[in-house]
Amino acid sequence: AKKVRIPHLQEMKRRGEPWPMLTTYDMYTAELFDEAGIPVLLVGDSAANNVFGYETSLPVTVDELLPLVRAVTRATKRALVVADLPFGSYQLSPEQALATAVRFMKEGRAHAVKLEGGRRFAPHVEALTGAGVPVMGHIGFTPQSEHNLGGYRVQGRGEAGAELVADALALQEAGAFAVVMEMVPAEVAKQVTHELTIPTIGIGAGPDCDAQVLVWQDMAGLRRGKAPRFVKRYADLAGALSGAATAFADEVRRGEFPASEHAFH
Ligand code: KIV
Ligand code: NA
Repeated sequence: AKKVRIPHLQEMKRRGEPWPMLTTYDMYTAELFDEAGIPVLLVGDSAANNVFGYETSLPVTVDELLPLVRAVTRATKRALVVADLPFGSYQLSPEQALATAVRFMKEGRAHAVKLEGGRRFAPHVEALTGAGVPVMGHIGFTPQSEHNLGGYRVQGRGEAGAELVADALALQEAGAFAVVMEMVPAEVAKQVTHELTIPTIGIGAGPDCDAQVLVWQDMAGLRRGKAPRFVKRYADLAGALSGAATAFADEVRRGEFPASEHAFH
């Protein structure tokens, strides 16, 4: 199958065909999602919570994320692989953003990078796109700013809706090829999607975005506990894996595994 390229994403927007994006952080899931026809895979800094066990996305580092990006790009044939720039690796200056993005492109072999923030990050986006690095924006609720935003809260309600539109337009103007909108009212997301020529990718942003993204462990029910409202679980991987581990343990304890056919004679 042909590699997914940025113009394909723009064409899907023009045709009104919604497309899916998933996070992935390792070889097996990257291979499976690629084969399932997910056109864009995101190695999110959500690896902080979903791989490394941090409570927020803030602690994860470039050095922790790079090997995950490399594993995903090695395992992917068709999908466009986007690497998230972690907290502290791009905010200082457009120069810092470019230096970090170059590492993800060279060492991680990513096809694009993503960073959080609106208008104030237009110079950072411009520095990257000017150097040949495709950039995906991320506005609305931005987890790297959760302490400043007062926790996980819907962004862009009321007056703030116009700010969100301005942020999205600024990112597009700076050369971003797509914009993630996280936890914003569906009506605002619809308006942004209408005003932009580049695709919008929603998470908790209603049905009118050009694309939809979920964290894969949420999508497949590996993460347990109460899920946010915007999550839909399409499988019960936690149940399946816990059942498998329990069955294995029981059979070993009962002396049933390995059976004769699992042994060399
Ligand atoms: O890190 C992440 O998983 C993300 C997506 C939710 C967009 O940024
Ligand atoms: Na992220």
